[in-house]
Amino acid sequence: MTVGPLDDRAIGTSILPADAYTDPAVFAAERGAIFERRWVWAGFTHWVSAPGSSHPVTVAGRPLLITRGLDGVLRVFHNICRHRGMVLSEEPSTRKRLRCPYHYWTYDVDGGLCGTPYWDRSKGSAPDEATRDALALLPVTHAEWAGMVLVSLGEPGRPLGEALAPLRERWAPVDLERLHLAAEDTYEIAANWKLVVENFLDFYHLPFVHPQVGPAAAALDIDDVMLADDILGGCYPRGAAGKAAKTSSPLPMFGDVPAALRDRQDIFCVFPNALVFLEADWFQVIGFEPVAADRTVEHMAVFVDRTAAGPEFEDARKALSAVLFEVNDQDVPILERLQRGRSSPAADRNHLLPHWDQITARFQVLVASALEGVDE
Ligand SMILES: [Fe+2]
Repeated sequence: MTVGPLDDRAIGTSILPADAYTDPAVFAAERGAIFERRWVWAGFTHWVSAPGSSHPVTVAGRPLLITRGLDGVLRVFHNICRHRGMVLSEEPSTRKRLRCPYHYWTYDVDGGLCGTPYWDRSKGSAPDEATRDALALLPVTHAEWAGMVLVSLGEPGRPLGEALAPLRERWAPVDLERLHLAAEDTYEIAANWKLVVENFLDFYHLPFVHPQVGPAAAALDIDDVMLADDILGGCYPRGAAGKAAKTSSPLPMFGDVPAALRDRQDIFCVFPNALVFLEADWFQVIGFEPVAADRTVEHMAVFVDRTAAGPEFEDARKALSAVLFEVNDQDVPILERLQRGRSSPAADRNHLLPHWDQITARFQVLVASALEGVDE
């Protein structure tokens, strides 16, 4: 058994101090050390399901644009007109061309510059081909996985496939190409992003805040799982919480899931900002954008198998989504109250429990190490 960061810790000594959750300077440092350096969740592929559609997002404070070309290919660009640097698009769109409102420069969803009125002051003039090509929207390194769009803003680091390898291997028997969106919602939360993660990884609160998902015995059944330093969470080996979401009309599974895995429920944070929840017949993602030290926007989506897309499964989809959104609704006031507690110096003397909070502690150590890396 591995020794957790809490095993030898003195009583009442927080790993992260209270102001790590409130100080704008810490927030800025995390942006630089974590969100601009790693693969981060940026959005969902279904936001641009139609060819010719586009969807603006913000990652680490930077305006980005996810598009689906007429060729069906998903792309990500800096959402910035190449002329004067104005944000090009502020709303999801299904127009295959996007026009900057400042001087009407126009780009197609593939990023190409296709309109530059009065380029040389004469009507109908245009840049030569090389100039036009050089002024296309600037691309952003990105990848798609399990219905999500992830981006990497920093130096070319390790490929996403390598970073996700332990999770992809664990989930290999589940066909995540089969996702069908059941429901989604957005939450604006007055809390620091780290509390969002910590609460997602906190299995101790389940019987108290979410009694509908099972008794304390169910929470006791969860095993901590660290697939990698930056893929951490837990697993109900025999299922538990999701049982409340089951209906008399069970949903079809994501492909041919082996019997041994059919009741398993996995809960992981793919560090830093993708919180994923997988059972054999449903998949939930909370991707979030840290907006300020005390503000986080969550985008939550529930997926079922594509064969559950029809009307015969509508009740089952709704029942499942209702349970999962109810759980998240219950967490919002908890998160905001946790955040308010961080304005007290007494929150420097928190006491994480070795029997419950090792994964939270690992997460806090990961954040602290990332910040130390920047100071070196
Ligand atoms: Fe919760």
